[in-house]
Parts: sequence; structure tokens; C-alpha cells
Amino acid sequence: MAETRKFPHHLIREIFEQPDALRRAIEPRISLAEGRVQLDEIHISREELRALRRINIVASGTSRHAGMTGQYMMQELAGVPVDVDYASEFEYRNPVIGRGELSIFITQSGETADTTASQREARQKGSRTIAISNVEGSTIAREADGFIYTHAGPEISIASTKAFTAQMACLFLFALYLGEIKEKVSKALAQSYIGELLALPKKTETILAASDQVEKLAELYYRVDDFMFLGRAIHYPIAMDGALKLKEVSYIHAEGYPTGEAKHGPNALIDFRLPLVMIATCDRNDAGSVVRYDQNVSNMEGFKKQGATLIALATEGDTIVPQLANHTIFIPAAPELLSPILEIVPLQLFAYYVAAKRGLDVDHPRNLVKAVTLE
Ligand code: AGP
Repeated sequence: MAETRKFPHHLIREIFEQPDALRRAIEPRISLAEGRVQLDEIHISREELRALRRINIVASGTSRHAGMTGQYMMQELAGVPVDVDYASEFEYRNPVIGRGELSIFITQSGETADTTASQREARQKGSRTIAISNVEGSTIAREADGFIYTHAGPEISIASTKAFTAQMACLFLFALYLGEIKEKVSKALAQSYIGELLALPKKTETILAASDQVEKLAELYYRVDDFMFLGRAIHYPIAMDGALKLKEVSYIHAEGYPTGEAKHGPNALIDFRLPLVMIATCDRNDAGSVVRYDQNVSNMEGFKKQGATLIALATEGDTIVPQLANHTIFIPAAPELLSPILEIVPLQLFAYYVAAKRGLDVDHPRNLVKAVTLE
């Protein structure tokens, strides 16, 4: 899809490269014959993984948002407690970590100083480490016990897009791998997730094929100066990343909040001048998710009463959310743990089109660099 089109900026090309990036991250790691995930590069034995007591995930910016989704994936599929840290805060909290634990460091560039320093600290304390990076032979990968390369291809634009979706796919692969080793995931469930993973690139293509709808939305909102993004559970990091993308490329003030927190303060800001981007997708095969969907619907009713302007992300076929929202962007149905990989794509498109309409240098936002190599 990306190869046959000419793009005015790296950012939009990289957004459109996501189906291929996902294929490269996922397909080589699936053994269809055995119906399971293979992760030979992690260099940590199955016995050691089976005995794991805790996982620490450490990263910065968008890579940390991927880590937050990984927390839900690993806790759900492998039943291991997972902590997520900002790399820039990790050493200051003098983390209590040690043997029997695994620390995962996520960094697109593999050179973010806070992340490489955090990995050194974790190793010093006796933790095993895995690096998830997009750059082969990067500092983080060289210094880790094992690695998972995202294989998203070079990411040039400062805003991270295809590396992010590939990071989430790699985290899911690892969660499934660990879940099988720990015997928390049945063969049937693993096979159904493998089918869903392999279906992600096509579903991403479907979202990209409707990019003109997101562009129209950007046309309506590109002059607005404040946005709020809301999401629950595994969708919360996507709200955070949607807000981060918008603020870094378009210089619009945007906040990402857990939906249920709105009542604890941010609600005071909500009126028609502050568009709310609400992630209200649902996994109809998952009772837990449907409950959260109901909560989303009731929150949307409340926001509407307050006069909010609502832009919703909903699951294809949903007829309730579109009635409440001013605008709805549809996402193909997917299991809840995989849905974030799809949800972020329209939010990336939105940030891009808004920034482009504002006439900004979308690939090189002011005051930012691609890799922050100083602590
Ligand atoms: C993402 O859009 C940002 N440009 C930024 O938050 C980035 O994700 C962060 O600096 C971490 O970079 P890394 O993944 O290379 O470590």
C-alpha cells in the first residue's frame, strides 16, 4: 500500500507502512505447523521463564505507552505481575529488583540514554533483561541478555508510529509465548490468538483505506487548541499516545486520561470547546470488555449532558456509540488485547492531518530529536 503511493512527508508514509511492518514483526515468529510463537532471540531458557516472579517494563515516551499495553497483555496471558516505569524515573526510585525477575526495555532507537542507563542498573541488580528495539545492533540490544527486534524498518519522522504498533505486536507475541510456557494459555486459545495476530495487517489496511474520513475530521478541528483523549484499561495507553502524537506534531495541548478519572477533576474542563476523543471499542467475545463498553456508554451519556463534543472510536457494527458521538471512527473488531494496535492508527492519522493543515513541519517538530541520547 505504502510502496505504490507518493507521500508528502515521512510521517504519513510511515503510518501507511504499518501493515508491512506488522507482517515483518509477526509472521517470522509464528510456527503455523506447531500453532505457537517462536522467540529464539530472547536467549532465556524456558525453565527460567517458567519460574519468573515479576516483570519490569521500562521505556520513554511512546515506547512506554507500548509497555503499558504490554502490562495488560502479560498479566492477562501469563499471570505475572508487571510494573511499568518511565526510564527517566527508574533509577531515582531505587527499584527493588533482582533474581527471578525479568526487566524489559523498549526503545525504537535503542539509544535513549535513560533507557540504556536503566538497563545497566537492572543488570547490576541481578535481573535478566530483554531489549525490544527497532535498530539491530543498537546499544540496548548489545547490552541485553536477549532481544526482540521490531523489524518496522527505519523510522525517520520524529513521531513514532510504525515502531509503536510493531512494539505492541512484539509484546503480545512475548506475552503469548510466556503464557504457553507458564501453562496459562491453552493450545486452542493460542491458536485463536495466532489467527487474530496474522489478521492485523489486513485490518490495518482497512483503517488506512478510510483515511479520507479522518482527514475530513481534521479539517473540522485543526483550529482547536485543546483536546482530551480518554480510554479505559488497555485502551488508556492509546489515549495517552493519541494525545502525545497530537501535541508533538501539531503543538496542540492534548491530555490523555483514564476514562474513569474524568470525574475526579478533568470533568470541570469539559464543555463544547474541549473535544473529547473517546476510545469506546469493545470485544464482544469477552464479557469483561463488554462491561467496560457499558461503562463507556454511560460515561458518554454523562459527557453529552455536559455539552461535550465527542469523537468516538467504536467497533465496526456498533450502533450505540455512534448515536452518542458527534463523530465516529470505526475500527475492525479484534480481541481486546490486540485492539490497541488498530486503535492508534486513526489517532496517528488525525495528528498528521491536523499538523499538516496547520502548515507545520510534521517530520521535525520544534525542540524534539529522534533519540534522546543525553540523560
Ligand atoms: C514518540 O512519538 C516520541 N517522539 C518519543 O516519545 C519517543 O517515543 C521517545 O523519545 C522514546 O524513544 P525511543 O523509543 O527511541 O527510546
